[in-house]
Amino acid sequence: MNAKRRPLIAGNWKMHAGGLDGVRLAMAVREFASSVPHVDVLVVPPYTAIAAVAAELEGSSVLVAGQNVHGKPHGAFTGEISGGMLRDCGATWVIVGHSERRQHFRETDADVAIKLAAALDHDLSPIACVGETLEQREAGKTLEVVERQVAAVLDVLASAKRACAVAYEPVWAIGTGKNASPADAEAVHAAIRGWLAAKDTGLAERVRILYGGSVKADNAAGLLAEPNVDGALVGGASLDAGSLGAIAKAAESLARS
Ligand code: PGA
Repeated sequence: MNAKRRPLIAGNWKMHAGGLDGVRLAMAVREFASSVPHVDVLVVPPYTAIAAVAAELEGSSVLVAGQNVHGKPHGAFTGEISGGMLRDCGATWVIVGHSERRQHFRETDADVAIKLAAALDHDLSPIACVGETLEQREAGKTLEVVERQVAAVLDVLASAKRACAVAYEPVWAIGTGKNASPADAEAVHAAIRGWLAAKDTGLAERVRILYGGSVKADNAAGLLAEPNVDGALVGGASLDAGSLGAIAKAAESLARS
């Protein structure tokens, strides 16, 4: 972490906790959030729970995000959700280009750039996800792949008037229990910071670069201690408020030190 940037700990619930269970989880997150005043805590419920979760979190510091957004503001797109709808439900952030969207729903770099712009048009702060597959890593193509994914969103990020984040999530580390070592994560985060700086040094200083992929209470501190790791995008462990709280507390103690 770096004192210039406030840590951001985001819990991506994926296709879980979409009803009352989501509201209960949000209540538990709200409880620990007051003990981590130097950390931004963000929850990312499925669409069905966003409004109820946002209502539960009203008046607290916990932020709410959507997991995806359509590129168009409205129209005949059955089953899709626009940025305006996310705002109406109380979300102020949104994840774009998560690897599960790229992999299972064939989202391309171009789609991700369109979604990012749509998010900003609706006053949503985006978390743009990037990351290589195991095959790409083993072929030595990690930086090439991530650079291409970052390049696709660079112009949109540079034009943003709102806070933005990039999440580096190696696909092979998501939900697998295998996480990148702090040094491996830092190498990619530093490269991302460099590409942002080549575009605009202010952008590079502002944008928080999160690490994601099997982040748990016991490995968070090591990852967050790296100078270019500004937070975490947590999947599985975020379904347990105790675990997300422990990760946020690791960020809080690093931010205070
Ligand atoms: P995981 O998911 O923590 O379960 O690996 C991270 C993510 O997909 O954002």
